[in-house]
Amino acid sequence: MDGTFPDSPILQRVKDLLGEDGFARTFAPLEEASGLPNAAYWSDEWLALEKEHCFRRSWVFAGAAAELPEPGDMKPIEIGGAPLIILCDHDRQIRALHNVCRHRGAKLVTEPCQKRTLTCPYHAWVYGLNGKLRSRPHFNGPNITDTFKDGGGDKLDLIEARCEVWNGCVFVNVSGDAEPLLDWLAPLMERTPGYDFNAIRWAGKLEFEVNANWKLVYENYMEGYHVFAVHPKLLDFAPMNVRWSGEWDRHVFYNDYVFPALGEGRGDSLPHYPGLSQADAKRGLWFLCFPHFAAEVFPDQFTVLVSYPIAPDKTREELHVFLIGDAATSDDHATARTALMQMWDDLNREDLGMLELLQQGRLSPAYDGGRLSPHWEGPTHDFGRRVVERILT
Ligand code: FES
Ligand SMILES: [Fe+2]
Repeated sequence: MDGTFPDSPILQRVKDLLGEDGFARTFAPLEEASGLPNAAYWSDEWLALEKEHCFRRSWVFAGAAAELPEPGDMKPIEIGGAPLIILCDHDRQIRALHNVCRHRGAKLVTEPCQKRTLTCPYHAWVYGLNGKLRSRPHFNGPNITDTFKDGGGDKLDLIEARCEVWNGCVFVNVSGDAEPLLDWLAPLMERTPGYDFNAIRWAGKLEFEVNANWKLVYENYMEGYHVFAVHPKLLDFAPMNVRWSGEWDRHVFYNDYVFPALGEGRGDSLPHYPGLSQADAKRGLWFLCFPHFAAEVFPDQFTVLVSYPIAPDKTREELHVFLIGDAATSDDHATARTALMQMWDDLNREDLGMLELLQQGRLSPAYDGGRLSPHWEGPTHDFGRRVVERILT
């Protein structure tokens, strides 16, 4: 990525927002480069571009299928600014529907809930869980209810978004034209041939809200440079000398380490992947499938960290933990599960404070994107460039 893009109105807009200098520094060779300019962390217009190009055009993690175990279970979610509903249909298929009534456009679902049909709160149009319109009271006059046996067709049924489930992880692609999900996940799969992901089961999730830009979550997630200063327990488990910068393979960032001994919440007391090799039993791997699906693979778990932008300086994070087989739910493993969730909660909270400092620092006119460590921060820097590239291509 050298910062050369075909001339276009959007390129000009990007340069206006980031500044010619900031744009050029972002794409300079790493030794001279800076991170993205402050505007990329504070501008509403910039965030709108990211939502459209990074989030709507990609696969986005929308939750765990296990959050919607019964027909009629549903939850609202916003992806790239688009309100959607993820639900479990009568045939237990997980679907994504645009969360907007075809009549006057009321949002249909505002809270996780369980319902047999979707009834609009405004004029009570009723839709099935498959999105098809079923009835329309009083539409053609008082006390006349139109009913629809096979839905109302293209103009009246709720609009479905592309949705696929991979081992209990629900992914949605709003634009509908992203590559096949398994192609998108392929760089992760190719690095993990010894792991039987069919064995993972959802054990629960943690939620966080942070007053920082969504990109900072991942810029922080990728680099192990801050571990010695911010994460004392993690440093004990995996010291600096087992760490490296990681690297990008196509659109997927990859990093790993071999840890000296199993540690609390990482391989010490919960069952491992079936058939895992001895070498993999002492490895931690972490991935970021651009833009926001971050997954950490330890011998006993598959843990997902995703962030959803709310505003330039506000982000919702979810951390979903998947364990091996019945470790996810059985009473025998309840204590170890609680300890594991606590470990993730503590670790993530250590980062949240730093993210807010990074966000605040980007209010300073004296900050120009900073100087980056060529040893640790090449891939981190590349993340910002990928955001720009995605907007422009
Ligand atoms: S807006 Fe939904 S029924 Fe009128
Ligand atoms: Fe961290």
